[in-house]
Amino acid sequence: MVSERLKAVTPSVTLAINSRVQELEAEGKDIVKFGVGEPDYPTPEHIKEAARKAIAQDKTRYTPAAGIPQLREAVVEKFSEENNLHYKVSQVMVSVGAKQAIYNSLMALVNPGDEVIVIAPYWVSYPEQVKLAGGVPVVVQTTEDTNFKVTPEALRDAISPRTRALILNTPNNPTGIVYSSEELAALGQVMLEHDIWAICDDIYESLVYDKALHTSLPTACPDMFARSIVINGVSKAYAMTGWRIGYAGGPEEIISAMSSCQGHATSNPTSVSQWAALAALQGPKGEVREMVQDYGQRRDYMAERLQNIAGFEFTKPRGAFYLFPNVSELIGRSINGTKVTDVEVLAKILLEEAHVALVPGSGFGAPENLRFSYSAAMDRIEEGMDRLQQALD
Ligand SMILES: Cc1ncc(COP(=O)(O)O)c(C=O)c1O
Repeated sequence: MVSERLKAVTPSVTLAINSRVQELEAEGKDIVKFGVGEPDYPTPEHIKEAARKAIAQDKTRYTPAAGIPQLREAVVEKFSEENNLHYKVSQVMVSVGAKQAIYNSLMALVNPGDEVIVIAPYWVSYPEQVKLAGGVPVVVQTTEDTNFKVTPEALRDAISPRTRALILNTPNNPTGIVYSSEELAALGQVMLEHDIWAICDDIYESLVYDKALHTSLPTACPDMFARSIVINGVSKAYAMTGWRIGYAGGPEEIISAMSSCQGHATSNPTSVSQWAALAALQGPKGEVREMVQDYGQRRDYMAERLQNIAGFEFTKPRGAFYLFPNVSELIGRSINGTKVTDVEVLAKILLEEAHVALVPGSGFGAPENLRFSYSAAMDRIEEGMDRLQQALD
């Protein structure tokens, strides 16, 4: 009944966990949620006020497919000031979250059968979006040995005559790693040699710690500017996941095709959210800085507690809001009489026995890891770590 194209798409692994969490909560159980990938802070007041004002002023009609001109100009300014990437307004578009910008970029670049390189561990939607666009995801596995980073050699090995693009995510979900400018420049050189496009997912840009610096690939490798689509958004930086506003910068021809794809699929991103996003980009950044400081403390605390529980191996990452420990030592063991056969079973046991929700790495192409999100209040992190320690000791 369903089309071949959609039959090939795998449902999200987080959905099964979320529905079990909801069942347990309906039974009155208190679940500590380390599974979520979104800020737990409220959207800053001045942003909400801008949205209320937009509604009061009836800014509630269709907008241009690529976004309101004011927001596109603000995006141009943001890229220029913060990333040293200089676009014209015609080279940027506003999308329904960064997610749709990634989808639009694949739709604009990929011909049937084209290969798109995805680096594992990867964000769950990349391979599925490549398939939706008619492409073939080619997964390059990375491990803790290279700190989950793809090396220029591994990238070169994965390239074939059909390779069209690489999706690069820094700071990274799920590993939290941040590529340095030098590492990006070296990857950019390989892409230039092989004439490959870069789809740069910079959505976690603001969330870096320990003085780590986010660099966008074409900033590190300016020769890649004409072959890069840089994607970002307000979801993570401004605690605006539900507003659904992302944006992209790239060559005009590609941005125009992306806007056309979006126009036919959705008409435009929500008008009121666009005005809110404008206030986010142009407004004060104090609350963002406070959030990042808070995340940093939560990360330190969670990492310290986790380091003291046997079976969780990791290096403390410097970005996003995730820890991604290797738990292979726990596989094969029994917890409360149940044998841990894989990370999915482990996540299930920890949910059922300790009432802590985590995401198994299998959905991210990392079957030996578990993803912990520290986007939770400190007292919940303390509670969750106490429960884990008890369940595993
Ligand atoms: C790596 C990565 N890219 C993109 C997104 C999507 O962001 P948005 O909410 O702006 O669509 C997410 C959200 O979890 C993400 O983790």
